[in-house]
Amino acid sequence: MALINENYTKLPGGYLFSDIARKVSEFKVSHPDANVIRLGIGDVTKPLAPAVISALHKAVDEMSEASSFRGYGPEQGYDFLVNTIVENDYKARGLNIAVDEIFVSDGSKSDTGNIGDILGLDNIVAITDPVYPVYVDTNAMAGRAGELLADGKWSKLIYVPCTSENDFIPSLPKEKVDIVYLCYPNNPTGTTLTKDQLKVWVDWAIENKVLILFDGAYEAYITESDVPHSIYEIDGAEQVAIEFRSFSKTAGFTGTRCAYTVVPKSVMGYTKSGEKVSLNKLWNRRHTTKFNGVPYIIQRAAEACYSEEGKAQVKAVVDYYLNNAKIIREGLAAQGLKVYGGVNSPYIWVKTPNGMTSWGFFDYLLNDLNIVGTPGVGFGPSGEGYLRLTAFGTLENTKEAVGRLKKIII
Ligand code: MLT
Repeated sequence: MALINENYTKLPGGYLFSDIARKVSEFKVSHPDANVIRLGIGDVTKPLAPAVISALHKAVDEMSEASSFRGYGPEQGYDFLVNTIVENDYKARGLNIAVDEIFVSDGSKSDTGNIGDILGLDNIVAITDPVYPVYVDTNAMAGRAGELLADGKWSKLIYVPCTSENDFIPSLPKEKVDIVYLCYPNNPTGTTLTKDQLKVWVDWAIENKVLILFDGAYEAYITESDVPHSIYEIDGAEQVAIEFRSFSKTAGFTGTRCAYTVVPKSVMGYTKSGEKVSLNKLWNRRHTTKFNGVPYIIQRAAEACYSEEGKAQVKAVVDYYLNNAKIIREGLAAQGLKVYGGVNSPYIWVKTPNGMTSWGFFDYLLNDLNIVGTPGVGFGPSGEGYLRLTAFGTLENTKEAVGRLKKIII
């Protein structure tokens, strides 16, 4: 008789974005003629950059010749990609990250979920609220979150609210915390922390031996100079922070799958008796045991994002989405709606009008305007009364959606 991991039975319904996809499919069945514009899940619409496509073609051809065919590669990623990442994303910013601190993977969703494998179940975990649901759900699966309470919070998690009341700047938790997830530029609110604001967290983490799990998946969208591109721009962060980076939103790899995680050798975890253990060593052990590496052709595609032409093409796409974000932000603000984010981020966080709930506004947008958003409360209790829109649609659909949103009466 196979016993199950009963923590799974505590999880509510389905995964947020799967639930929304189901609702939209049902709506499409009952309204086959509706022209539904999807600004819900943060999935890109632009094709891969030409430099990426040509690297892919070349790599595919290499796989057809015995002399250049590749089988298993290094689990941590091929040298050509790891070295390119270190040079461009770290050395170029004056940051000292070594090649054996980079772990190439199939996505930050997987890595932010899997990182829990190397961390004890007794850790007290803090999250900003609202938050990317993967952090919460994976901790619930592992048994670190406790029980789901009637107010939508998990009994053992520490919630750090980020709302318009505190300008989306999280305050340090008062409780004892062992691990905190920070995502900046933030998913879902689209807001950011400046270097000084992030330094507060790094200093606190150093003082209290807290591990920061820093999700930088939206780094490419930063436009303002005082917003850090990597947590390692903050002094001392290499002692306490693991950073997750992704090609998904940077270069349209949501379906192609490539990301990387930085685990500096100086980041320590502790045994119950207080002995220090390098998390780099543990993550390497986990990664090499449970993962066989990202396909060669995909790693060549990721490498191409850093060539001169690749960089220019990838930036042009990011600028295209940032322009969509501006159109949404300005269109909704002109309408009298309160909007946040969208300046250093592809996400726009909208306060629901007329005191509507997040799901009420979601239903209204879907049924009356045929626009799909993501209800803020789906990201956590402090997301109630907000809705997230993404800038990843086409320019035409974005303009059309903003035109439809003008029908909202406030
Ligand atoms: C989102 O919409 O929040 C993201 O697309 C989800 C993800 O990156 O997994």
